[in-house]
Amino acid sequence: MSAAKRVGILISGRGSNMVSLLEAMRAGEVPGEAALVVSDRPDAPGLAKAASFGVATAVVPRREYRGRPREEHDRAVHERLEAAGVEIVCLAGYMRILSPWFVERWQGRMINIHPALLPSFPGLHGQRQALEHGARIAGCTVHFVDAEVDHGPIIAQAAVPVLPGDTEETLAARILEQEHRIYPLALRLLCQGRLTIEGRRVLVRDEQIDLPRSLVVPDPSS
Ligand code: GAR
Repeated sequence: MSAAKRVGILISGRGSNMVSLLEAMRAGEVPGEAALVVSDRPDAPGLAKAASFGVATAVVPRREYRGRPREEHDRAVHERLEAAGVEIVCLAGYMRILSPWFVERWQGRMINIHPALLPSFPGLHGQRQALEHGARIAGCTVHFVDAEVDHGPIIAQAAVPVLPGDTEETLAARILEQEHRIYPLALRLLCQGRLTIEGRRVLVRDEQIDLPRSLVVPDPSS
């Protein structure tokens, strides 16, 4: 078997997706090892969680780069990742738009999770956007990162129903549960070298298909 990939995780906040990745790597379900967690916010609660896994952490405070080109901050982050020998970058609630320079450096090796079924509802508050739009099916997406926000080739998606009476919080919680399933799945496939990008499509080598045919909302038995 090939060596575990060195994975860097970028966060800005609570880091629940980061934890799902760390747990999956620790359990040996993903052939990767967490090399470094970087936050752009010194107060991100995810930093302490990363430390509790024994993972090295770094903070590159965005505040210190205020008024300077975005790329300068990204270069500082990149240096930390390089120094830690990172091969794959996972954005896990990293709420910062990346410079084209950074995106290019990590092209094909950087993935992101977004709480909506892309290409619907990119940007902030994907769950709120789905609710306000009246969508009956919502979900989450893991995708390769390209120069546009929440836009690159899609690796994995999970769909959930939007239920009557849902609030942004209840819908977000339902989606988050699925985020924690598909992010480790996507990272596993990437670490296993099973993903190929062809244009906008991602091909998965040896993909097993044993899936329900559809999710229909409202429930047809209503
Ligand atoms: C997650 O829901 C993630 O999908 C979202 O931020 C949250 C971070 O939570 N990301 C985006 O909206 C990216 N556009 P976490 O810190 O607990 O993983």
